[in-house]
Amino acid sequence: MQPRIEPPVLEARSVSHGYAGGLGRRRLFARTPSARLPVIESVDLCVHRGDFVAIVGPSGCGKTTLIRILAGLIQPDHGQVLDCGVAVTGADHNRSLVFQHPHLFPWLTVEQNIAFGPRHRGTVRGDYQPLVEELLSLVGLEGFRTALPQQLSGGMKQRVSLARALANRPHILLLDEPLGALDALTRERMQDELRTLWRRTGCTVVLITHSVEEALYLANRVVVLSGRPARILTEIGATFSSNGHGARGREVKSSREFLTVREEVLEHIWSEQPAGGSI
Ligand SMILES: Nc1ncnc2c1ncn2[C@@H]1O[C@H](COP(=O)(O)OP(=O)(O)O)[C@@H](O)[C@H]1O
Ligand SMILES: [Mg+2]
Repeated sequence: MQPRIEPPVLEARSVSHGYAGGLGRRRLFARTPSARLPVIESVDLCVHRGDFVAIVGPSGCGKTTLIRILAGLIQPDHGQVLDCGVAVTGADHNRSLVFQHPHLFPWLTVEQNIAFGPRHRGTVRGDYQPLVEELLSLVGLEGFRTALPQQLSGGMKQRVSLARALANRPHILLLDEPLGALDALTRERMQDELRTLWRRTGCTVVLITHSVEEALYLANRVVVLSGRPARILTEIGATFSSNGHGARGREVKSSREFLTVREEVLEHIWSEQPAGGSI
């Protein structure tokens, strides 16, 4: 008997997308809107169970658009997204999305925010509470279960967001620059916490970031995007890491191998970016 081949948890096939109302180059002076501003161009991506994929690209290249397409919040103009082999036609709790700014319900406590997804779907408390307890402990917020979001620091709020997303038991966790709004020290700490969360839960993660260092440090695969319209320039297996199976200290960031790969990725991005492009 042939072994059963598991489909990728998430797959993008030739995905392209644009927005209405873009100003075409030739029409710029006439101020006439052209048909569409191209943002994503023929992106193919396969994410397998247990992967931690980071997608890195310059600011404004289309990263948020791409992750919203993967989540099912935007239907692409061309191509298709498949979740475990099934075409994605809309948002679904199997693909939990965490944003840069935590969108917590201000009137709900930490515990109620985390339990929101399963409660909203009508799951009985006895079924979701053990997971909520586990997640409270994983993100180190057992002592704050009755706190309201306004009583939390930025890092704590983002921990609640991550726990809330995981409470949905998603096939895949989609993270759109989740550490982008944090101060530098909190961000460093949260990077380690994110990696621990991934290791302990065994979840599949796609992380959007504009930080090459963060992408290389956290992921086991790094996909590098061009400037807008975003297309895949290259993909790197982050082999200097232990890929989550052992300890990987922050000191790896200053290792020669890490710095060399980081330089190569930046070179890829800059070599095709117009002068003055941002990352
Ligand atoms: N809803 C929208 N309507 C029109 N243009 C948009 C919309 N969302 C994003 N854009 C444009 O698409 C481009 C890519 O945006 P985005 O996906 O947010 O990039 P990134 O996350 O990489 O910074 C930008 O030029 C932005 O102005
Ligand atoms: Mg963005």
